[in-house]
Amino acid sequence: MMKEIVDAPRLAVAIETFHYPDGTVALSGIRFDVERGQFVGILGSNGSGKTTLLKVMDGIIKDYDGQVLLDGDDIRRLSPRDIYRKVGLVFQNPDDQLFAHTVAEDVAFGPRNMGFGEQEVGERVRNALSSVDMAGYAGKSIHHLSFGQKKRVCIAGLLAMGHEILLLDEPTAGLDPMGEYRMMELLTRLNRDNGVTIVMATHSVDLVPLFLHRLHILSKGELVRGGPPEEVFTAPAEMADVKLRLPHIAELIYRLKHDDKAPFDHIPLTIGEARREILERLKV
Ligand SMILES: Nc1ncnc2c1ncn2[C@@H]1O[C@H](COP(=O)(O)OP(=O)(O)O)[C@@H](O)[C@H]1O
Ligand SMILES: [Mg+2]
Repeated sequence: MMKEIVDAPRLAVAIETFHYPDGTVALSGIRFDVERGQFVGILGSNGSGKTTLLKVMDGIIKDYDGQVLLDGDDIRRLSPRDIYRKVGLVFQNPDDQLFAHTVAEDVAFGPRNMGFGEQEVGERVRNALSSVDMAGYAGKSIHHLSFGQKKRVCIAGLLAMGHEILLLDEPTAGLDPMGEYRMMELLTRLNRDNGVTIVMATHSVDLVPLFLHRLHILSKGELVRGGPPEEVFTAPAEMADVKLRLPHIAELIYRLKHDDKAPFDHIPLTIGEARREILERLKV
């Protein structure tokens, strides 16, 4: 069958409902597309359903009502091999993902399993490690890596298999502020320079406006809002309703505008934007 995939979304998610065996309804009424080359955020507080949603999108959870299309194919009808050629999930805890003794062995596992020859495997491992700035760590024991380094090796493992779509579960959780920033820089680089489509689940409201094309807010298993970050972040009270808050800088400008009647036209989400707005207002 001929397929129009050029303009089709890479992932089209439409989940009517999913509940765990104990009856917990973890997802309901979820509908969104991930377009080729996008960097998409799923923002939600703890327990909002982020991990569950990523597992559905990776084909791990199948017993939901609804449909997830990967390049137009129902993901439940694809073999694991077909799915894993395209989509990979980076778990929140790298220790759940890494299992080999050394960095190179771990990253080599996927491509070797896919049947590539040793020379090709070696090349893929080298390229993947260099993409995540871990080129010098090939022979190092996994146990001796920092948490952030382990997360990078997990990403390398998927890149080495040639994944074009990365799903990341809280990739900045557990990292220090510099590590958070470097992780976001790495993901932005993979997205912009390597063309990797990225879906990232997070509760990091201060980080997301800086990097994302699209943001969806998940609350109690439902998508309550979606769009470009500047449209999604609204009033503090609405964010509090979904157990989130505005980015700190946005909160400050919001209060200046609404409580102190300071003349701001719109609410900047990043320090850079706020700086420009403030300088503009300070001009005499
Ligand atoms: N294996 C499971 N069995 C039953 N309930 C679960 C299971 N895993 C998660 N849940 C529940 O599903 C909801 C969503 O969880 P999760 O997707 O882990 O949220 P998040 O990743 O946003 O913290 C929560 O209410 C959680 O308690
Ligand atoms: Mg989670």
